[in-house]
Amino acid sequence: MTASARPPLAAVILAAGKGTRMKSALPKVLHPVGGRAMIHHVLQAAAVLEPVRTIVVAGPDMPALQHAVIPLPVAVQAVPRGTADALRAGLKLLGPFPHGVLLVLYGDTPLILPETLARVVAACHDGAAVAVLGFETARPDGYGRLRAAADGTLEAIVEHRDATPAEREIRLCNSGVMALDAAVLPLLDRISCDNAGGEYYLTDIVALARSAGLSCVAVPAVAEEMTGVNSRADLAQAEAVWQQRRRVAALEAGVCLIAPETVWFSHDTVLEADAVVEPHVVFGPGVHVAAGARVRAFSHLEGARLEAGAAVGPFARLRPGTRVGEGARIGNFVETKNTVLDAGAKAGHLSYLGDAHIGAAANIGAGTITCNYDGVAKHRTEIGAGAFIGSNSALVAPVRIGAGALVGAGSVITRDVAPDALALTRPQQQEQPETGGKLLRNRGAGKQKA
Ligand code: UD1
Ligand code: CA
Repeated sequence: MTASARPPLAAVILAAGKGTRMKSALPKVLHPVGGRAMIHHVLQAAAVLEPVRTIVVAGPDMPALQHAVIPLPVAVQAVPRGTADALRAGLKLLGPFPHGVLLVLYGDTPLILPETLARVVAACHDGAAVAVLGFETARPDGYGRLRAAADGTLEAIVEHRDATPAEREIRLCNSGVMALDAAVLPLLDRISCDNAGGEYYLTDIVALARSAGLSCVAVPAVAEEMTGVNSRADLAQAEAVWQQRRRVAALEAGVCLIAPETVWFSHDTVLEADAVVEPHVVFGPGVHVAAGARVRAFSHLEGARLEAGAAVGPFARLRPGTRVGEGARIGNFVETKNTVLDAGAKAGHLSYLGDAHIGAAANIGAGTITCNYDGVAKHRTEIGAGAFIGSNSALVAPVRIGAGALVGAGSVITRDVAPDALALTRPQQQEQPETGGKLLRNRGAGKQKA
């Protein structure tokens, strides 16, 4: 079928369940995987199919969820009475949908991929009234089972709690993802709550559609993608799968990860081909590492951009607003925030650089601190190209160090320094001949007295 000939697609994401097994004040679907709420993973996968409308079903006490999905319309399910009831709440907001395919997703399956969603929708395009994504697992407990008819089509979904011992032997499980032809939607009103859970089960739509003479099919999918997150342990498992996917994707894209299993990604991490990442690196949100840049071991980066040939770490901490220019270097135990280092600038050791601009090829000595905060407001430090800041200097912002200027080690700089000047605030050194030696020799005697 060509794209233009396809019937309209709408998507409803069910997320009104309380998620009590998470033991959290946060609605379950807002718990993050790869630093992004689970529901956003689901929404992103659905968006690839370009539905004409997408609706989220939330509980009445979930303002954070409603806020998180802006500008999407949110239907409120007043009481969590089951997945069929939740879908009905969503359909009320959707309005008339006489023709097309409705894709139903659960907000707690963050690993689902768009191509898998496309396959279940395609099954409806090919004539199924109901298409359900199923997966096989050795541990099917808790999942609904997909019961097949003799002809191999889908006969019914039986919830674990309601299943007979024979049905519990079935390995093919309900992922929760289903595509429904608009023609079956009126059947939702015929679903009862006469079951072990006392809930309106969306899964009952299959048996109802069959008795109406409509065809239902199971579409197989990989179990790993279908993990429903119900507990903290499930969430950790989903995170592990997601991280592994990102590592594989980075390697395939030409990134050098020396020990991939020790590198942690964010949902938006961008590593260009030929970037090198040493072991034990954590990428928070908003990091871009250009080709040929290197992140050395045990570094933590967020909101940072590394240009070609830049190198940071080991043990660097780059905070939001950091930009490390071409060939620039940040060494061990250096923290940066809202700071730009132009090409070739260097801060090799033990520094805090905040709200600063460091000109090309400037050299920041060990222990340099930009004193950007006076307890009330933040101020900027400007360091000109080629300047040299001696070790253990305190640059009290707002302050400018001119291009090519030299700041002597140990200085506390409170006023602007002109280009090419030498600035030194070091007190005069005092020296008392012999005194040191005497003090040291008398040390033992002093101790005995005490
Ligand atoms: C559901 C399926 C089960 C499937 C499993 C896959 C039903 C009856 N059961 O069981 O067949 O194997 O998912 O993970 O559908 N929700 C609402 N309102 C409600 C109840 C649930 O919006 O009243 C939402 C939840 O927020 C969640 C989703 O629906 O996103 C699934 O609910 P959950 O309680 O997790 O269902 P399971 O018991 O996992
Ligand atoms: Ca679930």
